[in-house]
Amino acid sequence: MASLADAGLKFTTLPHPAPASDEAREAVLANPGFGTNFTDHMVVIEWSEGADGVGGWHDAVIGPRQPIALDPAAAVLHYAQEIFEGLKAYKQADGSIALFRPEANAARFNHSAERLAMPSLPEELFVEAVERLVQIDRAWIPEAEGASLYLRPFMIATEAFLGVRPAKQYKFIVIASPAGNYFKSGAPAVSIWVSDYTRAAPGGTGAAKCGGNYAASLVPQSEAMARGHDQVVFLDAAEHKWIEELGGMNLYFSFEDGTLLTPALTGTILPGITRDSLLTLAREEGLNVVEGRYSLDQWRADAASGKLIEAFACGTAAVVTPVGRVAGRDGEFTIGSGGPGQLTQKLKNRLVSIQRGEAADTHGWIRKI
Ligand code: COI
Repeated sequence: MASLADAGLKFTTLPHPAPASDEAREAVLANPGFGTNFTDHMVVIEWSEGADGVGGWHDAVIGPRQPIALDPAAAVLHYAQEIFEGLKAYKQADGSIALFRPEANAARFNHSAERLAMPSLPEELFVEAVERLVQIDRAWIPEAEGASLYLRPFMIATEAFLGVRPAKQYKFIVIASPAGNYFKSGAPAVSIWVSDYTRAAPGGTGAAKCGGNYAASLVPQSEAMARGHDQVVFLDAAEHKWIEELGGMNLYFSFEDGTLLTPALTGTILPGITRDSLLTLAREEGLNVVEGRYSLDQWRADAASGKLIEAFACGTAAVVTPVGRVAGRDGEFTIGSGGPGQLTQKLKNRLVSIQRGEAADTHGWIRKI
């Protein structure tokens, strides 16, 4: 992989005038929660298009995490030209630090960029930016079971221009946040609400990791929470029949005959990296792994007959989270015992033990820093 120096782009490191005290950092690490605490530093890399119409990345800086100045006409504020990623750095069993499949995030970032008419970022630059941030903020990686350092790379259109066209200036930024459990409830299994809203339509942006998809999920998610559920599940836009995904996680269904099914990537579903990793691990477990269609009606019927024994959500933030209960306009049903199932736990353990360096990385998923 080419280094930044080879790409002609060198990082400038700006010293932090007042990093968090050891006490303040330790207090965060003792109880990280999700997404509310941040490390001392961030990475910023600029992209701009010259008068000749040719654009490029420049001014790579790693420095103190701080507010960014944006012109009020910045395109991101008006037309939501924004994409992001989520990945984690883990303390390994041997004390070292590793990222899980950062190249997959870099590749997906560029797919999202393409869909949102944004410039692509060389994959090695994405990975090196993340690595540098983890290095400089390595003291912020929590060590407790289930905890990690969540990395949030994102790109925004910064050009001050109100016409509707792709911007000519962007910022790529990486921030980091010590993370524990995504779900506050700490319940053994989550409960989900079947939304009347749709998340993505064919030809839309459902397969891109762009902020707009998540903005559109907020009303459905609030509705789910107001009804006492943890998450919302979306059905397809055309028939409102087929299960797609949750507000920010993919879904899996496990059947008594050894089949494990996840909705196929039809263009309206986010291609999760956790989802993809679990496909591989489940095949290794000898399961009949299917990427296909599954309807809400079938889900209800299979839960009632006992054919469906487990369901779980998965994602970088959520890891692997059992789904116990499903409710919608047509009533509610429970999956299996309503609590965590054996296969869910087994797959989660396999994934987490690879991520934490406790099991052999036979797939080349771990990138030590
Ligand atoms: C992730 O899992 O990393 C996401 O971006 C989803 C979001 C719900 C936090």
